[in-house]
Amino acid sequence: MVLLTRVSKLYPRRRSAALEDVSLHVPPGQFVYLTGPSGAGKTTLLRLLFAAEAPTSGQLRVGGAELGRLSPRQVPTLRRKVGVIFQDFKLIERRSVFENVALTLRVAGSQGNGLTERVRQVLRQVDLEDKAQVAAGTLSGGEQQRVAVARALVGRPPLLLADEPTGNLDPLAATEVMRLLVEAHAAGATVLVATHDPKILTLVRGARLVRLEAGRLTEEP
Ligand SMILES: Nc1ncnc2c1ncn2[C@@H]1O[C@H](COP(=O)(O)OP(=O)(O)O)[C@@H](O)[C@H]1O
Ligand SMILES: [Mg+2]
Repeated sequence: MVLLTRVSKLYPRRRSAALEDVSLHVPPGQFVYLTGPSGAGKTTLLRLLFAAEAPTSGQLRVGGAELGRLSPRQVPTLRRKVGVIFQDFKLIERRSVFENVALTLRVAGSQGNGLTERVRQVLRQVDLEDKAQVAAGTLSGGEQQRVAVARALVGRPPLLLADEPTGNLDPLAATEVMRLLVEAHAAGATVLVATHDPKILTLVRGARLVRLEAGRLTEEP
């Protein structure tokens, strides 16, 4: 599902590499925790995977697509295969919960009853059906992150990327969000969760642990 071969990322005017010679294979259906201290390169790695950044060197494949060879027109096609969840939710706060989730499908050309039904279904899944018409910005942090999870899941992408998804949440809301990611994994998704929080690691049994330190990757047993 994800294959990195000797990937390095240097940001301009930075002495050290954000990622250095990173190779990683994530087969379909794996649940992977990407750990390591702040500044280790976790966000950079995830951003490469949804083509928000380009690598300085090395090769990246996501679901068979070679990211280095994507034309700008192919980027939306890649993004449809990848659901992304951020620490700070990144919702459109003035729009309704329904619209925040529906937007992903509208962009992909979906409309009408099919769209409405699918959005309702995924809002039921994250237990927010009764908040569908509420402005997203008025919800609690835990609820906003569940909207963000719904938005990531609505197009049924095979790959889910979550960057510190529990970083702004209290323990109960964090557990709830992790439970939704585990459910998505059980339904077949490949999941990559970046977190520097050791408490979060205990929430998913049997997950693979991959650790970054100063841009270099080490695997933990
Ligand atoms: N847009 C950027 N421009 C310059 N340096 C960056 C940028 N984004 C990240 N970095 C640097 O790259 C390194 C890795 O950052 P990041 O991937 O955000 O780590 P993490 O998510 O593990 O905290 C850090 O030294 C950070 O300062
Ligand atoms: Mg980060």
